[in-house]
Order: sequence, then C-alpha cells, then structure tokens
Amino acid sequence: MKITEFGYVIIGTTDVEKWRAYGTDVLGMMAVDGPDGALYLKMDERDFRFVVKNTGKDQLYASGWGVDTEADFNALKNSVEKAKVKVTLGTTDEVKMRKVQNFFSFSDPSGLRHEVFWGPISSFSKFVSPTGTRFVTTNLGFGHAVLPTSNLKETVEFWTGVMKFGVSDILHLTMDPSAPPISINFLHCFNGRQHSLAFAELGDPAGCNHLMVEVDSIDEVGRALDRVDQHKVPISMTLGRHVNDDMVSFYMVTPSGFQMEFGTGGLVKDWTTHQVFETTRGSHWGHKFILGMPPE
Ligand SMILES: [Fe+2]
Repeated sequence: MKITEFGYVIIGTTDVEKWRAYGTDVLGMMAVDGPDGALYLKMDERDFRFVVKNTGKDQLYASGWGVDTEADFNALKNSVEKAKVKVTLGTTDEVKMRKVQNFFSFSDPSGLRHEVFWGPISSFSKFVSPTGTRFVTTNLGFGHAVLPTSNLKETVEFWTGVMKFGVSDILHLTMDPSAPPISINFLHCFNGRQHSLAFAELGDPAGCNHLMVEVDSIDEVGRALDRVDQHKVPISMTLGRHVNDDMVSFYMVTPSGFQMEFGTGGLVKDWTTHQVFETTRGSHWGHKFILGMPPE
C-alpha cells in the first residue's frame, strides 16, 4: 500500500486564463482543455499533471498521490478509515476528470485535501513544450509540495504512521531573530525524490506554500528566469541551492498566490542508506527571500 508518486495537483483559481498563460508561456507546459471549463497542464507523457479549475478561490484545492495497484489502493483506504479519518470515493465525473481508475479523498490533520488514486489513464500523446522545456518526472512524481500547518507533530505522525511516508530531514529556520525558529519537516514517499511533501509552520492562505517542478538542466532554469522577467512574474526567492535535496532553483508567485519553485539537479536517493538529519539553514547559497514571502 505504498504511495509511489506525487501524481497531480488540482489548483483552484478565479481566473483559469491567467493560469493558461502562466502555465504555457512561463512554465513551458502544454495547455489542453478539460471538461467543464477546466484546464489541463501537461508536462510529460501523462495527459496532465495540473488541473486548473475555477473554484472561486485562489488555492491548492487537492494533492493527488498515486499507488501502483488496486490492491494497494484498497489497503490504504482501509488504513485511513481505521485511523478514523473520513474517506470519500470520487464520483463518476470526478474520476473522469482525473483520468484514473478510482480515487478517494480525505482531509489530513492540517485540514488539507488530499486524494489517493490508482491506474492513471494516458493517451501517451507526445509532450511538446511551447518553450522547449524538458521536465524531470519519470519514476519521481511530478515534483513536490510544501504545505502550511498549525499542528506539525500530529500531521507528520499521520503521514508517517498511516500514509507510510518517511522523514527525509528537518529544518529549523530562523526568519525573525526575535522569534523562535519555524520548523519544516520534509517527507518522502516510495520513490527517489528527496522530498515529495513537506509541512511548514506557516500560515499560507492558499493552503500551499509552494509546489516544485524540476527541469533537466541549469540552462532551462536560466531560460525560465528570462521568461519570468519577460512576463513580469514576481520572484519570491532568488536563485540558490538547497542543502537537503541539492536543488538549484528560484521561486516565483503563481496566479493562485502560492509560490512555484523551478529547479534542477534534485538528488535521487537510495533510502536504504539514508540518515535523517536536521539543518538550521535551507540553502548552501542564494535563495534570498524577497517580496516579503516565506522561504523554503
Ligand atoms: Fe521546495
């Protein structure tokens, strides 16, 4: 019943067309029209990785986690129910929009919506980026999410105990020298990405601090920076290299208010030899925090 990938996200917005322009012109993804006015953003051979829909609110609506088999799906559903967390199976229309065999949704102890799915449906149509961008996804999921929490301990216990994620590392970050440091816990699922999910003691109103997508070279990060400049997208953190996953990345503000980390060179881990570690800084260099938005 292992989760093997961060498969998709559903992004809520008040302006789908803003996301279409941002997703294609800045991120370099392909836009495909979905049902009921939804927009699919495609970044690899999957039919989509982002669904953008008008929910009347700028938010990360849901994070979609993939298991490999129907048996894993049923086993994980039972475990979540056993933990006395309410599980809701997707309706026919919802399953159709997500292009999976089936999914269930639940709220984690931080009140954030997650979905677990099995059997993605893909036409394997070729991904042709409008900007020539190549994303790093295969066997690693599409990227990662850092989500806000006001009850870090309970949330991490749920994700490690029930969802069987592993702790990758812990960051204690001093943002204000007169206040205690904030904690961010980084978690991995059953693939080599150093973290697919993290929880931060932050209060992001969009239900998300940032999502991360990875590209295949530093030149692609540089080209993305040029496009960010060209399209006047606000940068929230400058280029830098993280200490935990070695990612060289920068952060920008998305049309839904949360941030997007755009990076390259993320570590691919062998978890059999990993030792959990704690750090007191997020980056070897760079990642200067601008715009007054929270880092990491
Ligand atoms: Fe990140």
